[in-house]
Amino acid sequence: MGKSACAFLFFLLFINSVFSWKKDEFRNCNQTPFCKRARSRQPGSCSLVAVDVSISDGDLVAKLISNENTENGEKAIKPLVLTISAYQDGIMRLKIDEDQSLGPRKKRFEVPDVIVPNLSNKKLWLQRLNEEVNEGGVVSVVYLSDGYEGVIRHEPFEISVRESGKNGKRVLSLNSNGLFDFEQLKDKKEENEEWEEKFRSHTDSRPYGPQSISFDVSFYEADFVYGIPEHATSLALKPTRGPGVEDSEPYRLFNLDVFEYVHDSPFGLYGSIPFMISHGKSRGSSGFFWLNAAEMQIDVLGPGWNNESSSYLRLPSDQKRVDTLWMSEAGVMDTFFFIGPGPKDVVRQYTTVTGTSALPQLFATAYHQCRWNYRDEEDVKNVDSKFDEHDIPYDVLWLDIEHTDGKKYFTWDQVLFPNPEEMQRNLADKGRRMVTIVDPHIKRDNSYYIHKEATEKGYYVKDSTGKDFDGWCWPGSSSYLDMVNPEIRSWWAHKFSCENYVGSTPTLYIWNDMNEPSVFNGPEVSMPRDALHYGDVEHRELHNAYGYYFHMATADGLVKRGDSKDRPFVLSRAFFPGTQRYGAVWTGDNTAEWDHLRVSVPMILTLGLTGISFSGADVGGFFGNPDTELLVRWYQLGAYYPFFRAHAHHDTKRREPWLFGERNTELIKEAIRVRYMLLPYFYTLFREANTTGVPVARPLWMEFPADEKTFSNDEAFMVGNSILVQGIFTERAKHVSVYLPGEQPWYDMKTGTAYEGGATHKWEVSEDSIPAFQRAGTIIPRKDRFRRSSTQMENDPYTLVIALNSSMAAEGELYVDDGKSFEFQQGAYIHRLFTFSNGKFTSSSVGPSTAGNNRVSSECTVERIILLGLSPAPKNALVEEANRKLDVELGPLLLRRGKGPSVLTIRKPDLQIAVDWTIKLF
Ligand code: NOJ
Repeated sequence: MGKSACAFLFFLLFINSVFSWKKDEFRNCNQTPFCKRARSRQPGSCSLVAVDVSISDGDLVAKLISNENTENGEKAIKPLVLTISAYQDGIMRLKIDEDQSLGPRKKRFEVPDVIVPNLSNKKLWLQRLNEEVNEGGVVSVVYLSDGYEGVIRHEPFEISVRESGKNGKRVLSLNSNGLFDFEQLKDKKEENEEWEEKFRSHTDSRPYGPQSISFDVSFYEADFVYGIPEHATSLALKPTRGPGVEDSEPYRLFNLDVFEYVHDSPFGLYGSIPFMISHGKSRGSSGFFWLNAAEMQIDVLGPGWNNESSSYLRLPSDQKRVDTLWMSEAGVMDTFFFIGPGPKDVVRQYTTVTGTSALPQLFATAYHQCRWNYRDEEDVKNVDSKFDEHDIPYDVLWLDIEHTDGKKYFTWDQVLFPNPEEMQRNLADKGRRMVTIVDPHIKRDNSYYIHKEATEKGYYVKDSTGKDFDGWCWPGSSSYLDMVNPEIRSWWAHKFSCENYVGSTPTLYIWNDMNEPSVFNGPEVSMPRDALHYGDVEHRELHNAYGYYFHMATADGLVKRGDSKDRPFVLSRAFFPGTQRYGAVWTGDNTAEWDHLRVSVPMILTLGLTGISFSGADVGGFFGNPDTELLVRWYQLGAYYPFFRAHAHHDTKRREPWLFGERNTELIKEAIRVRYMLLPYFYTLFREANTTGVPVARPLWMEFPADEKTFSNDEAFMVGNSILVQGIFTERAKHVSVYLPGEQPWYDMKTGTAYEGGATHKWEVSEDSIPAFQRAGTIIPRKDRFRRSSTQMENDPYTLVIALNSSMAAEGELYVDDGKSFEFQQGAYIHRLFTFSNGKFTSSSVGPSTAGNNRVSSECTVERIILLGLSPAPKNALVEEANRKLDVELGPLLLRRGKGPSVLTIRKPDLQIAVDWTIKLF
């Protein structure tokens, strides 16, 4: 057998073997020495003391020294340097690193390009340090923000944030359980120790020995903790240690390509965000973020995990808390404490540090049609025209890896896709776009220009011996660009210009996959930890950020290409804090099973809580064939995902919306149309995420923070502040229980029926929709005319749906811009505030200034106003400014085909959306 045949056979065998989740291929905590060591430490084992506590350059600085000596009388560890900084709006930063002046061999890796540059403008200059003695010993106290202080206890060292005053209640603390440990870099030669680590057939040379950091963090007044994606698990994180918890792994943060992941597990998936948010009824929320890109493991410690026996613990007994243990293989300690106190405050504080979500183009918020693979141009044409034939809107058609010439990205299979530009133009004529896949593995083929240039320029990640790293991925033997290097990112970005990416047009957008990075023959299907990056950084130090840099470079490429100046759209599988600034993510290779439909909700909500608003799960499930009912339910739920895309593995049966009989085509069409109808509302929410960090899809407790019943509910969620969606996750369900929080009623979006708030309702399930309710007191802007794509809806008139609360009042917003360019950053947008009170419905501008406003115009009008809950029903409506009477009608027309109780409709008010007006009802 020839060499290439051998390689092919190996490849096939390998591919088969990775297509089912094999636990054994991945390390567990016991097989991960740093995790095992950290987990076995006893509370109170940290012996570090804070000394020389002072203020310097507006920061609190101190040294951490050991009060333990080694056998030969030296200190057990060299002093560490500690810095506390404060930023506006309730953010405290704590850094701990080795003292460079004591000369460790190598600087530990600090992740660049995540923290937004303007954070430094928000720094508060700490000036005064107060000393106190309390029952814990001597502490130094600094001002953080109104009502809050940062406190450092000297011995044993502990950091906390508390409400102001000596007896102020605690919000967060670190090392209260004395689990802090910082393994310092050593020199292998000097130490003469064997540090190699073996896992399966792989050996990690670990030239710098153990270098992990671990510590405990406590969240006070917390009922639950959330966040730290990505895991396929519940929204409220279950304890991983403590009484009643059998044998659980910690939550692992290590970007991995896990095929056929299971639907309830703390195992690490494709992305990592080491940010946790707590929530409790009595105080609200707080947050903790560790900027570190090495493998991390996090334990949620259940009540009683340590028997509270250690005399070391001087924790307040009158405050309930959740303890957690954070362990990372390498890097430094660069951590942020967020004071809250509301969930939205914590998310705002976190996105002040890492950035808010980029505002997507409008088309990207609509429906995407994907499959591995649309075979050829003919297939693309047919799929596209079938959407029109069936009157189903869609905006984007995706091409997976098979469109390329031999998995060489930026190329086209000449036989299957001979005229890619024409293909894209045909879609563009209907206002549609195309997305192609571009992965980070580069085929080692000397005739491939990317490989040639990258080799010549030395742009690849190196293996531990200094040679270009060579691993297996889709194209076979591949190398990986070293995206941490800004020069390489800029080189990569240029590859997306229309001249360089031959066959691309300005309506082509990009999908970054396999960027964990996935290496089929590497340890745990990834890159060896001792591979080397730019600046001599070991892969172990930055693993979790690799995909982030790749995503960043690709998005930058789309910004820079051509003259169109449109916003980029790049979907990425791997992610890290800051990803939200570059594009969307999805939850990877899920399975066509009900449990995967169910877990998609907590996964998406968790991403939103941790800054990534624009996310979704493969509608229909990637692996396997969904039965029709599951597929329909998935569309009905997916229509409310922030990112709405159907996708499927190449071994699955075709599942375009019209393949399941007339009735099911209707149902899927209806689900997709709901999304199109709500696009103005979604786009307004994306803008909110862009300005405040508050996600599009929210856990119920984000809107109802005092309602305990919502804290662990992850089957329902809010889209913005106005819509509650309840998924249906079982086959042939007849009823579903829906908990509607708050004191105000909710209106069934299909029928207009009012349901009482603060109660659980038994909702009768029908096949045609899942439960979705509009919250009383809100106003939702819609566009109800169905077109082929979002682009074609641009000039369509609006419908405004007003759901009144018990005071007969409501409020809502609409954000509009050109849907594609960056001009909105210069004020080229329309932002309206709608209010209904005292029988008057008013539209007013909430910005921008007139100057900006002139830069974008909208001729759109309001064609319908629907009022829910208005009692008594008025008979007349008048546009005050023009003294013009309007038609008022009582009728059952909430959704086009909806039947149900009467609602009040004002037909054809024909008011301009962009101007101020008031309608009086009487
Ligand atoms: C893995 C991705 O998760 C999946 O969505 C894609 O279809 C395949 N790679 C092939 O590119």
